[in-house]
This record gives sequence, structure tokens and C-alpha cells, in this order.
Amino acid sequence: MSTQTEQNAPSNSTKSMDDIVALCRRRGFIWQSSEIYGGINGFWDYGPLGAELKRNLKNAWWQDIVTCPPDGPDGHPLSIVPVDCTIIMNPTVWEASGHVGGFNDPMVDCKECKARFRADHLADLECPLKPSKKAGEHSACKLTEPREFNLMFETYCGAIRDEDAKTYLRPETAQGIFTQFWNVVDTSRVRVPFGIAQIGKAFRNEVTPRNFTFRSREFEQMEIEFFIHPDEAEQWYRYWRDSRYAWWQAIGLAGNNLQLREHDKDELAHYAQEGAGTSDIEYRFPFTAPGFGELEGVAHRADFDLKAHAAQCGKGDKMRYFDQANNDRYFPHVIEPSGGADRGTLAVLCEAYTPDPDRPSKVYMKFHPRMAPIKAAIFPLVNKDGMPEVAEKLYKDIRREFVVQFDVKQNIGKRYARMDEAGTPYCFTVDSDTLSDQTVTVRDRDTLSQERVNIEKVSEYLRERVGG
Ligand code: GAP
Repeated sequence: MSTQTEQNAPSNSTKSMDDIVALCRRRGFIWQSSEIYGGINGFWDYGPLGAELKRNLKNAWWQDIVTCPPDGPDGHPLSIVPVDCTIIMNPTVWEASGHVGGFNDPMVDCKECKARFRADHLADLECPLKPSKKAGEHSACKLTEPREFNLMFETYCGAIRDEDAKTYLRPETAQGIFTQFWNVVDTSRVRVPFGIAQIGKAFRNEVTPRNFTFRSREFEQMEIEFFIHPDEAEQWYRYWRDSRYAWWQAIGLAGNNLQLREHDKDELAHYAQEGAGTSDIEYRFPFTAPGFGELEGVAHRADFDLKAHAAQCGKGDKMRYFDQANNDRYFPHVIEPSGGADRGTLAVLCEAYTPDPDRPSKVYMKFHPRMAPIKAAIFPLVNKDGMPEVAEKLYKDIRREFVVQFDVKQNIGKRYARMDEAGTPYCFTVDSDTLSDQTVTVRDRDTLSQERVNIEKVSEYLRERVGG
């Protein structure tokens, strides 16, 4: 199902992913991890602008889910509490969750070129042999039969590296939430329906990491496990599906590059239950266009995880939740909205990328103000006549409230161009008039219009436009 029509042109189909990657590298949004040693496939670092951008995305999620949770169907704020669990857990967790036995991708090797491919992605993957063809399409290709490959990274806890010491880097943050469910209920006075939220790193030894940060081996998830009475699964599933779709729109992915897609039955994950359903919120990345790639999944996990952990730890039915008001004992069902902070950041970058041949920079990043890594820049027009001192004082005054940059280098045109590529919504310039009338010029990134505002009103101006 798609909640939006396809009548508009797919704008991301015309954007070049190579150009976006080049800008990310040049301006310090995203770099290859350990680049000076040739990098490492599937691992990415965020530079100064990228770190702020990704932090803004995670902060917006935290603010809108944990600090100010949305109103539920009854018009009252939902009850959602946070946790921050470890990356390495008791390995039994991953037996109970089904990851040791079932978290596999089918993999094939080519005996000719030694490359390894995901068997279900062969039609999209390039064979390294020349001339370029898809995997398996060269006459020389010798693909093996598909084999199951477990995606969990293994490591060892303690000094002795034997089977008993084997542990895993978590492949999802969700299991930390499920295993602490009972502690949260006992200590937080939450009652069903309520949610537990977490942001954190997850690791998957993807067979073919690709498409920049889209499929990485180390990434961050933003997950909510929302615990409900089993009879209310359908209603809460629809609530979260629509609420999460609206959230991605509200942070700037509002056009026809975003869609909501209900899963077909044959796509369901091992924990997903038939009934309430599973859907993906998808974004049309330049590398998936005209198709879409997943940003967030909303799944009805039923009572799969709580029951599995209760059984594995040996307490079974004793761990059922007790609803005092109705004298009822049950394992709550779960609706899980699970999003990716890195895929979200990548979608925000692709959406913002706006070629403009008339600007000196030829491109600008049209970030939603809440996402913009730098909210404003402060410039002295020239480095003399007291202008740098006034500009620096203005910078010091507003930096406590906003991420701002003070830039005195090169001419004003080059400084504007740098800020256009960084996606800074407003640039304030101190000039000779400032010294006499206490006003500064403010330039709007998107319209390029300029107006003068009183230097005392700069914070207020920003507060109204980019938030506090
Ligand atoms: N707890 C459910 C779960 O982990 P998932 O669909 O496997 O579900 C949730 O992952 C989200 O995590 C995805 O929608 C995506 O945004 C992100 N994600 C998953 N694998 C990823 C990878 N290899 N690289 C980057 N992000 C990934």
C-alpha cells in the first residue's frame, strides 16, 4: 500500500549519488572509516558537519518520542521510557531471540573472481570482472550453491578464547529492551500500554555492504518497543505506522520521495505475526530510484520475544504481566517501530541536496531547519573598522543557544558558498552600517533574499525560524 500518489516526478531520480558522496567527503559530512589505510568495507565515520546532522536526527527522535511523546488515540500523551543497554549481552539472549539459529542471509561465492555475493541480491550486484556485468552473468563466473551465513559478529569475553567465552555484538537494540522489560515494569510504574525506547549501535556482518551508509556493518538504530494488550494489536499497529510516517515527513522528507509500504506475507521476519501486519517507511534514494529503500520498519512482534525470554530463563508463565485493574495475566504484544539513524541521515542528505547552477557553489543543502548542522553563520564584512569585534561578540552571545559558526576567512561570496554547501539556513553579516544603526544583514539560504535586523534581535529571529 502506498499512502501517496505517484503523479509527481521522482525528484531524486535526477540526483547523482556520486555527486552527493563527493560533497559529503569534501565538506566533512561522511568519510570512510580508517581512510588513510584504505578504509574498511561497510564502516563509515561522520565528520564535523555529519556528526551534528546525525545528532540532530537522533535528538529530534528522542525529543518527539521520549521527552514529549506523541498523544495516543485518547488524546493523552503516551507513556514511553528510555533505556540504554549494552552492546554485548549474555549470549543466551541471542539463542532465545532466534538470532543464533535464524539471523542468516544466503551467500554465494564465485570460484573464478573470489567475490562473495548475497544470493538474493545477485541481480543488483556487479561482478568484479571486466567488462562490467551483473554477478553470475560472465561466461567465466563459477558461483557456488547458496549457503546460509549468520550475520552476527562474534567476539570473546575474557582471556580464554573458547566456545564458553563466545559472545556477539548485538545485531539489534531491541533485545536489550525485551530483557529489561520486567525491570522497567517493576521500577517505573508504567502500565500497559506503554513503550520503551532506545538509541544505540547495532552490528551486522553484511555479506555485501553497499550504497554508501545505507547497508553498513556498524550502524545506529532508534527503536521503540510498544507493549499492548493482545486484543488491541490492530489499532496500535495502525497508530504507530501512521505516526512514524508523519514524523519522517515532519523532519523534512515530505515530498513524493517518501512512502509507506505494507509487507507482503512472504516478506515477514521470523518474529512478525500475521494479523496486525508489518510495514516499511521507505525513501526513494538516488541509488534505488525509481524504487525505494527501507528507512524504518513497523512490525507487530506479538509476544514472541517476551515469551521466548521467559521460557529460556526458566520462569515461563510466572513472567506474565499482571494487569491489576482487570485481574488479568498475559504476555503483552509488541508493536515495534524500528528506524535507522544512519539511513535516516542519508535520506536527509539526499533530500537536501539541491543543484543550483546560478550559485557560486553550484549546489546547496536545503536541510529542514531542525536538521541543519549549523543554524547560522556570523561574518564581519571585512576584517577591519571594528567589524570583527562586533561580529565575534554576536557569535559569543548566540552560540549558547544555537550551533553557529564565526567565519572571517576569504571574501563574503566564498563564505556564503561554504555555508550553502553546509546547508546553513541564515548568515548574518556585520558591515559598516552596523556600527552606526546596530543592524546586521541576514541572508536566507533558500530564497537568497536579504534584510536587515537589529543586532539585539538576532536570537529572537533564529528562535522563530529554527527553534531554540
Ligand atoms: N529490531 C528490528 C530490526 O532490527 P531491521 O529492519 O532489521 O529491524 C531496523 O532494522 C532498521 O535498522 C532498518 O529500517 C534500517 O533503517 C536499519 N538498518 C538495518 N540494517 C542496516 C544496515 N546494515 N545498515 C544501516 N542501517 C540498517
